[in-house]
Amino acid sequence: MTQPLLQRYRPYLDLPEHTQLVTLSEGNTPLIPLPRLAEQLGGGFELYVKYEGLNPTGSFKDRGMTAAIGEAVGRGAKTVICASTGNTAASAAAYAARAGLKAVVLIPQGKVAAGKLAGAVAYGAQVLQIQGSFDDALHLVVELCQRHPIALVNSLNPYRLEGQKTAAFEICDVLGAAPDWLCLPVGNAGNITSYWMGFRQYNQLQQSGLPRILGVQASGAAPLVLGHPVEHPETVATAIRIGRPARGEQALQAAEESGGRIIAVSDEQILAMQKTLASEGIWVEPASAAGLAGFAAEVEAGRIQPRGKRVVAICTGHGLKDPDIIVKSMPTPPQIAVNLALIEEAVLAPTI
Ligand code: F0G
Repeated sequence: MTQPLLQRYRPYLDLPEHTQLVTLSEGNTPLIPLPRLAEQLGGGFELYVKYEGLNPTGSFKDRGMTAAIGEAVGRGAKTVICASTGNTAASAAAYAARAGLKAVVLIPQGKVAAGKLAGAVAYGAQVLQIQGSFDDALHLVVELCQRHPIALVNSLNPYRLEGQKTAAFEICDVLGAAPDWLCLPVGNAGNITSYWMGFRQYNQLQQSGLPRILGVQASGAAPLVLGHPVEHPETVATAIRIGRPARGEQALQAAEESGGRIIAVSDEQILAMQKTLASEGIWVEPASAAGLAGFAAEVEAGRIQPRGKRVVAICTGHGLKDPDIIVKSMPTPPQIAVNLALIEEAVLAPTI
């Protein structure tokens, strides 16, 4: 059995003594090389996807949740709460269940993908749909936690960031050094903040180097690119449909300090990259394709010259979490009688 993340990296994580081990074998996700896509983007560089969809509840949130829930249960909390566009909800629900805690999740009504909502329900969380946005839901849970002894497990909780740093450590351990570029989607901005903390810390301890960070938002929900909050964020990438990122300042600082930047891509670019990744055998939810979509756009525009570089794109969540978009756009598969000749005809027909 591989060692739980929190044990493996414990000396590097700023967690209180009372933190308990609440694990579902999160982390240790693969770095998958994408030589064909690298070639399409001009070639001469190494491109990897870190497939965070392979975490126990299908997203990177599990890295932070093992820490946040472990800390909460260790200090005697009985209930945890979060606002979520879906993945945090499913993860909080699973780890709370594991620890024997009650989980409450607030989600924006009608804007959470089926696989995430089903996960939160399956793991036994109390799910409340808010007639508003993720930003409204976050505001409400913060207020609630000030009034009641309920543990907040959004990424405002510092232990979430501690847990999520482990992804940066893993990348350095596997590659032997930090990559030249790290690309990832940005929503509430906890993850980009965690990666930068993790890379800086490892560099101080092990001289592993530092990546430039390319944070990517959806153009309909791009407050960090526009420089002001977005009142009504809208994007097909519902995971990052956020107009007031809680850690926006830190995200901008991470991008700037690293020599990178935060950019926006359109929903069309996101969906095109989701398709490209699927054609490599990697099905991710739309938000997860944003980082790589942004990188490809920068390369194609000549703003990033990747030759000789090593690039890692973080694919944050599994495609199974959000099948709606694929199901809606796909043609209904033809129905055929149990008849060998008819099947044969269909199989041998030329495909376009
Ligand atoms: N990718 C996926 C699949 C996500 O679910 C999220 C965030 C992000 C990227 C962005 O990460 O917020 O740290 O910048 N999802 C949160 C949620 C908001 O509630 O599940 P971030």
